[in-house]
Amino acid sequence: MTANPLPSAEREALVAAATAARENAAAPYSNFHVGAALLAGDGRIFGGCNVESASYGLTCCAERTAVFKAISEGVRSFRAVAVVTGADEPTSPCGACRQVLWDQCRDISVVMATTGGKLEETTLAALLPRAFEL
Ligand code: THU
Repeated sequence: MTANPLPSAEREALVAAATAARENAAAPYSNFHVGAALLAGDGRIFGGCNVESASYGLTCCAERTAVFKAISEGVRSFRAVAVVTGADEPTSPCGACRQVLWDQCRDISVVMATTGGKLEETTLAALLPRAFEL
């Protein structure tokens, strides 16, 4: 079964939460600020931002920050994730985040938006076909 698109009110709330989380981005090296927001099955929203390291490879993307926050709070059911950047066009989660989202959330809806108001919605299964699972 594939993830359902979000009702527009929920989509707007999730994008607003990701936009707010983006304000906290710690990205002095790339200056590419990313916000994410994860919608739990019970309606709670967990925000996340990218957190960069001077040792670049240790950087954590916004999506994984949001996933780790929710998982560490005991949440195990998810419906959607939103990602917001200041790019001209919506950007999609990187490969590492797609795998971590699949690990913890399976086939959720993925909303990609820009601070300029552009928006696309797809599913994690579409972004990560034939995902690795143990
Ligand atoms: N980044 C994210 O936070 N999410 C993505 O899906 C792609 C990339 C961050 C990592 C790094 O801090 C910056 O964007 C540039 O790659």
